[in-house]
Amino acid sequence: MMERIRIPRIMQETSKRILLKSKSIGFVPTMGALHEGHMSLIKRARTENDVVVASIFVNPLQFGANEDLQSYPRTLERDIEKLEEAQTDILFLPEEQAIYPEGFCTYVSVEGLSERLCGAFRKGHFTGVTTVVCKLLNLVKPTRLYLGQKDYQQMQIIKKMTEHLNMDIDIVGCRTIRESDGLAMSSRNSYLTPKERQAATVIYRTLSALSELIVKEAIPCIEVPALMQKLISEEPLVDHIQYAGIYDAESLTPLKEYKKINLLAVALKLGQTRLIDNMLVELKC
Ligand code: PAJ
Repeated sequence: MMERIRIPRIMQETSKRILLKSKSIGFVPTMGALHEGHMSLIKRARTENDVVVASIFVNPLQFGANEDLQSYPRTLERDIEKLEEAQTDILFLPEEQAIYPEGFCTYVSVEGLSERLCGAFRKGHFTGVTTVVCKLLNLVKPTRLYLGQKDYQQMQIIKKMTEHLNMDIDIVGCRTIRESDGLAMSSRNSYLTPKERQAATVIYRTLSALSELIVKEAIPCIEVPALMQKLISEEPLVDHIQYAGIYDAESLTPLKEYKKINLLAVALKLGQTRLIDNMLVELKC
């Protein structure tokens, strides 16, 4: 039976007891509305740790004023069933008041990385992410933290935070789980109308096409962003491409020349819905 913990101090005490017995803790933080992408992280954590902790907390600090905090999908009963089926040991479900009590004024920011790509369009978003993840790590005290490559920038920022703050945690990056037509699974896909859902396949098609051209050395690096934007724009339902290009996989700055590992990344709006995706392209050179 999965244990449910709502109170931060109890989560912390529980983890201390587990660690005192020299058991490892694998942690998967989420905002709920769980899909197979989330569950792949849980499954990986299950195979690598004695105890698996998942959290569900829709973190208000990482949503902008005009973003979807109110409408973010909440499916707690189904989430609990999925977590139990995947043999999660503990579900941490804190309340907003317990995480951000009156007068809360301490923030964690990873400068530079947090301003690039999505950060340029979502001011303060990554400070919201790093602040809550830092708090969750202090409460859950994991041995290993499982993060999806779907949110590649988030993963890099959290890696940097744990490194710079000397947090003794292994970060395990997990590959992106996709629908059968290639669309990266995301809680936000549920916002898409059937026509938008069909149009969203342009993202993976474009990433795959570019990846193939790059591997075949059929296109110079400098021409990659324009071709990505052209291919995406062929889909008439795409309202606005926020960014589409090729980036350094560590610093997330735009590349002029290929490196061994290259990051293709896209963010766009389909109607009201903002979608992101990325692909790493490795070259032999
Ligand atoms: P959320 O969007 O719920 O995602 C939780 C974790 O699942 C993240 O590490 C994310 O990268 C991973 N994930 C989402 N879709 C995935 C997919 N298709 N394949 C593989 N992994 C996927 O990311 C957050 O929540 C929040 O920002 C959080 C880290 C919990 C902090 O609030």
